[in-house]
Amino acid sequence: MYLSFFGLGEHPFNLSPDPRFLFLGASHREALAQSLERKGIVVLTGEAGTGKTTLLLALRERLDADTAVSYVFNTTLPFDGIVEYLLEDLGIAKPEESPARRLAALNNFLSERERAGQSTTLIVDEAQSLDVPALARLGMLSNLETATASKRLQILLVGPPELEAKLDHPDVQHLKELIGPRCRIQPLDAHEVHDYIRNRLRVAGAPDTGLFSERAIERIAQYSGGIPRVINILGDHCLLFAYADHKRRVDRHVVNRAIAYLKEGAHAPGGSFPGDGGGSLRRFRRIVQIVGIALASALAGFILSR
Ligand SMILES: Nc1ncnc2c1ncn2[C@@H]1O[C@H](COP(=O)(O)OP(=O)(O)OP(=O)(O)O)[C@@H](O)[C@H]1O
Ligand SMILES: [Mg+2]
Repeated sequence: MYLSFFGLGEHPFNLSPDPRFLFLGASHREALAQSLERKGIVVLTGEAGTGKTTLLLALRERLDADTAVSYVFNTTLPFDGIVEYLLEDLGIAKPEESPARRLAALNNFLSERERAGQSTTLIVDEAQSLDVPALARLGMLSNLETATASKRLQILLVGPPELEAKLDHPDVQHLKELIGPRCRIQPLDAHEVHDYIRNRLRVAGAPDTGLFSERAIERIAQYSGGIPRVINILGDHCLLFAYADHKRRVDRHVVNRAIAYLKEGAHAPGGSFPGDGGGSLRRFRRIVQIVGIALASALAGFILSR
């Protein structure tokens, strides 16, 4: 609706985890570097909406052509089901017989690739959904017979902070011993929020990446706590409000109106702005989580259908 008004080529604050818009905050940069180094099992955690899935999709694009990648999303499959999925996803001929034969086929595949100097990476997004026995056996998959196991299969376990608690379960002790780097994606700091917004505007083709005033960005950083999903929801509403008012620039006043609207589901009463906190903020955060879950399900459908 507001695209032509602002001269934008596309929506800058789209809620899908699109790697074209990737902005690397300090912790995103660190997580990406660790994941590209291929050190056995890597655990990547972060609060909802901090950019884990976006980072994984970008990582997938950056892995070299010699790396076979399988992406498993929010799965509750048992271990045998994961093996079956991997055979299918990695294009390995699937022996019809027993789970043991399928596991053997996967192991042969991994060993052959290792001998040929080729890597294989398994990315498990929303890994907290895996049940404990499946997690425990995943460790064995990465570390089958050889001491160089980490080169055989790199596994990235990605999820919210609760994933760490799951990895503390006594039954996954073996897997835990194989874990190398643990990275925590942090919310963006105030400077990063500034660069994040400008980067999204630039990728969306904005003729002026200063579309949001400095004070507007400060307010967005303060309200969002640096969570990119919240920044996107708020940023999109700011553009809508500015467009409705025929304003070419988003100032702090527009941001406050958008915040009030998101919190109360209505326009803010003339000029005054209620402080953060309380039930309405909790409701808004809940909405942000629900949006995330809905997007995650849609993304899973998209990835699995390819
Ligand atoms: N580093 C980033 N660069 C660009 N966009 C980002 C970044 N981080 C997050 N976003 C945007 O924020 C939104 C949420 O990102 P994403 O889905 O990757 O978060 P998540 O951590 O996987 O969330 P969840 O825990 O709900 O799965 C998306 O719209 C995404 O485009
Ligand atoms: Mg995600």
